[in-house]
Amino acid sequence: MASVFVPQANPRAAYHAHKQAIDEAIARVLASGSYILGEEAKNFEHEYARWIGTRRAVACASGTDAIALILRGLNIGAGSAVVTVSHTAVATVAAIQMSGATPLLLDIEPATYTMNPDELASVLAKPPRHLPKIRAVLAVHLYGQACDLTRILSICNAHGVSLIEDCAQAHGASLDGQKLGTFGRAAAFSFYPTKNLGALGDAGAVTTNDDQLAARIALLRQYGWRDRYVSAEPGVNSRLDEVQAGVLRAKLPHVNDGNRRRQDIAAVYDANLESGPILPPARRQGAAHVFHQYVVRVPDRDGIQAWLRERGIGSSIHYPVPVHQQPAFRESAHLGPLQCRETERISRSILSIPIYPELSDDQTAFVSKTLSELSDLLDARTDTRRRTSRERAL
Ligand SMILES: Cc1ncc(COP(=O)(O)O)c(C=O)c1O
Repeated sequence: MASVFVPQANPRAAYHAHKQAIDEAIARVLASGSYILGEEAKNFEHEYARWIGTRRAVACASGTDAIALILRGLNIGAGSAVVTVSHTAVATVAAIQMSGATPLLLDIEPATYTMNPDELASVLAKPPRHLPKIRAVLAVHLYGQACDLTRILSICNAHGVSLIEDCAQAHGASLDGQKLGTFGRAAAFSFYPTKNLGALGDAGAVTTNDDQLAARIALLRQYGWRDRYVSAEPGVNSRLDEVQAGVLRAKLPHVNDGNRRRQDIAAVYDANLESGPILPPARRQGAAHVFHQYVVRVPDRDGIQAWLRERGIGSSIHYPVPVHQQPAFRESAHLGPLQCRETERISRSILSIPIYPELSDDQTAFVSKTLSELSDLLDARTDTRRRTSRERAL
């Protein structure tokens, strides 16, 4: 048993890495007497929009709300369908349902685990008859890597359907040099504490180049207030508080360094997994992956998780049950023609191993060495099995 456990995610370490700046930001907010949607939130919106490269960012209470607010802002609700994937955080699909729209869940590409553009082209060319009109595609950049945006965007444009990006796991990632969150009508970001930019509670934001959409979302997030206490239209309460805005401002200048560190750790892991039975994550050409998660494919996942835990390494599964198979969605899920078969297949073998900027070189080397041992062990087991079945056949 290892003496110090390496957790799969470690938000406490992220706090300690930036403790002084975070503590100062919190003290500043406490002294200000303004605690919700004040100067900190306004400044964060400006700084975040500048960093992503959009005209506007509108802060809100979570990534889920950011998606739902975008859909409401585009008048996409009951009577509309929104296409996304089943292999995602359940929040992606929950947000579509919050808006009143009907989710249509597609399958993923086997290598990158992101939306299959061929299936998208086929459902937009021939929409399922029983569904309302498809108005938007919600493309998820899962684990920190772009989905096939170039193709997805051109398919959306060909059919007059809005592209919305779910960037909850992709802060700072890019495709062909362009930051994710700038490609579609709007993008949703989550600042859940473990994200590449994480708050110390719930927080989210919408980025967009559409001033009108940004203004409407800013209204909707606070009861539809145009003037204080007077609602221009029905809205919700999805405000960002000043403490979270201050924390996010303290951490934003460090996200690029954090992403580079994640990429370096991924390169160390990759080097040991080149040709073994543990499959490392595939890279999309032109995509700068920011490794929100480092997800491998393994045989006998439960056994391997326990084996790693015994050696002091935490792991998680993102996600163990595809959305369309979850009790809340099983009866009502609408699937594309591929019936999410690839999603179901990979959900049984994916495993996320520790990756975050605060992972030390020693910890990285330890995780990498342990994976390499595991790989040898699995190889030996396969050889033994092969030998035994050959002997039996003789
Ligand atoms: C892909 C994806 N979409 C949406 C969300 C929702 O974000 P939040 O937890 O901030 O509501 C998350 C976060 O877990 C996510 O990973």
